[in-house]
Amino acid sequence: MKIAVCPGSFDPVTLGHMDIINRASKLFDKVIVLVMVNSAKKYSFSVEERVELLQKVIKDLPNVTVDSSEGLLADYLKEKEASAIVKGLRAVTDFEYEFQMALANKKLYPEAETVFLVTKSENMYLSSSIVKEIASYGGEITDFVPEPILGTIKERLVKEK
Ligand code: PNS
Repeated sequence: MKIAVCPGSFDPVTLGHMDIINRASKLFDKVIVLVMVNSAKKYSFSVEERVELLQKVIKDLPNVTVDSSEGLLADYLKEKEASAIVKGLRAVTDFEYEFQMALANKKLYPEAETVFLVTKSENMYLSSSIVKEIASYGGEITDFVPEPILGTIKERLVKEK
């Protein structure tokens, strides 16, 4: 069985993430969406909240599950015997950082390959940070996040301002 892990902050999950998760679910037998900690980021949602939001939006994808880890991705891959890390690539600005992480993960756990899926053109500019910025000013984020979690996200981010 080919297991892929889609790691990320998902603070919160966007339609860009959903596109990548959907496409990964067609390429692998099992996909684990893994909520992790990026030490360079300050989060708006706790790990538990990010997991909960993801669970609501992946429930129609039978081979996709959600998990969280506060450790190294390489250790998680090893524990699950995963064969791939799936990440979305937007603009060239993503590339250097993603390339560095892919090389580090390969060194730490050579059994897994990093697979980059090129984002749909309409999601090129989309990120959790952009969603948070727009929502914090009361702007419309309907086109950026999955419908079932729109209310929760709006409520939280407006309050945060
Ligand atoms: O959505 P993000 O913030 O770009 O995701 C980055 C993330 C969380 C996948 C990355 O920071 C990560 O893998 N963190 C876990 C710790 C780890 O393994 N770091 C080394 C990667 S080289």
